Amino acid sequence: MTSFTQLNIGCLSRNRYWGEENGHAYRGARCSSVLLESEGKLILVDPGVGYNEMKILLDERCGKKIEEIDGVFFTHLHGDHRVDALKYEHTPLYANALEIQELRLSGEEKELIRRLQPADEIPFTGIKPVLLPGHTKGCTGLSFESRYGRALVAGDSVMTEDFFVQETGYFNSWDFAVTAETIQAIKREYRLIIPGHDIFFINDSMQNLKGDPVYDRGQEPYEKVRR
Ligand SMILES: [Fe+2]
Repeated sequence: MTSFTQLNIGCLSRNRYWGEENGHAYRGARCSSVLLESEGKLILVDPGVGYNEMKILLDERCGKKIEEIDGVFFTHLHGDHRVDALKYEHTPLYANALEIQELRLSGEEKELIRRLQPADEIPFTGIKPVLLPGHTKGCTGLSFESRYGRALVAGDSVMTEDFFVQETGYFNSWDFAVTAETIQAIKREYRLIIPGHDIFFINDSMQNLKGDPVYDRGQEPYEKVRR
């Protein structure tokens, strides 16, 4: 069993479900950062705040020290998901190889590229990288068994619960059709979703899947949860 702590609640610079235009930034975007703990190992996913602020968040949310982190995992390499990445000096950094390649082609962030290791090399038991293309080609989440059932740190394959329900991408997503396919696959597989830019939620579309082998794994029924 893996435990998770959502360290902060991210936000979007524009949210079409609040009536906001895609062509205008109404506020700065901030991603959601998550700490996973499995067999005594700590994995920080998507640091969305600066290193010093992350120290405070880790202390406030779970009483951990930043030096205790065993690995930092980036769901993709957009700047808002890797804030102060190089300051995690003695910690292995992981991202999908496609993402690393894309950043290499941009000619930027040479030191970060030197330090990044491919996502499929993460050495943490019970935590599995899952390719979730759509927002970017190599967007990769982490799947694990939580106390709520099968769970997914989705990164920006799922921006918020509204984007999940509507099966759509963000204004800057790479491919909207691929995004929809990925979200449909997530709907079939995962009970708990931690989206890239909002608070975690229960996948209530699973309620319609009684008899489906994924739903019917002996998990207890649950109430429909809405914000
Ligand atoms: Fe993002």
